[in-house]
Amino acid sequence: MAAVAEEQLKSPRARLFVALDLPDDLREGIDSWGREALLDPALRPVAAESLHVTLAFLGQRDEEEIEEIGAVVRENAGPAPWVELLDPEQRPPRGRARLFALPVLSPGAEALQAGLAQGLVAGGFYEPEKRPFWPHVTVARVRSEGRGSRRPAVVSEPPGTLPKELSEARICRRMTLYRSELKPTGARYVPLAQAELPG
Ligand code: 2AM
Repeated sequence: MAAVAEEQLKSPRARLFVALDLPDDLREGIDSWGREALLDPALRPVAAESLHVTLAFLGQRDEEEIEEIGAVVRENAGPAPWVELLDPEQRPPRGRARLFALPVLSPGAEALQAGLAQGLVAGGFYEPEKRPFWPHVTVARVRSEGRGSRRPAVVSEPPGTLPKELSEARICRRMTLYRSELKPTGARYVPLAQAELPG
């Protein structure tokens, strides 16, 4: 009973992150490549609408903070960055893969991330990561080896290289604050605030 009362007193929380959105046709292109490249049964491909470059993962925040965080996102809408996608890499780099991602080459996205992170830190909404920013698009996560296991399954057919048209430089014109809703079927990302990037 006491635990229930305590739970009700806590303000509602949301799992938040800010991402650079990819142009729709690029997401569709990655999705159709993935339909042939991400066939290993151990892989769970990321749905086209969920493909993005995470700029800042905020974790659980009070829902009351969402408006102010959205304002910080809009205040830090720097120039629209050009991005180039590289061939898939596994993470961690050695041993069993937990995920496959397309590394992103983009000085513009790095600058955008640095400004955004600074604004979020100043607002008290974000603790910057100790490791350097690694811009990437996660394209597949690896299922666990079995029920109750946290160990990833073996991927015998890792994804091959990208076709040329997917590695051409593209401009990204939108940054979004998302709420991540975890479901047994995977995460669903709900946009909460958006900033159009000039240029
Ligand atoms: P990933 O794609 O490399 O896994 C929503 O969870 C987004 O935030 C994902 O794109 C995820 O990155 C990113 N993210 C960054 N740090 C995270 C963390 N500690 N836990 C969950 N997601 C994180």
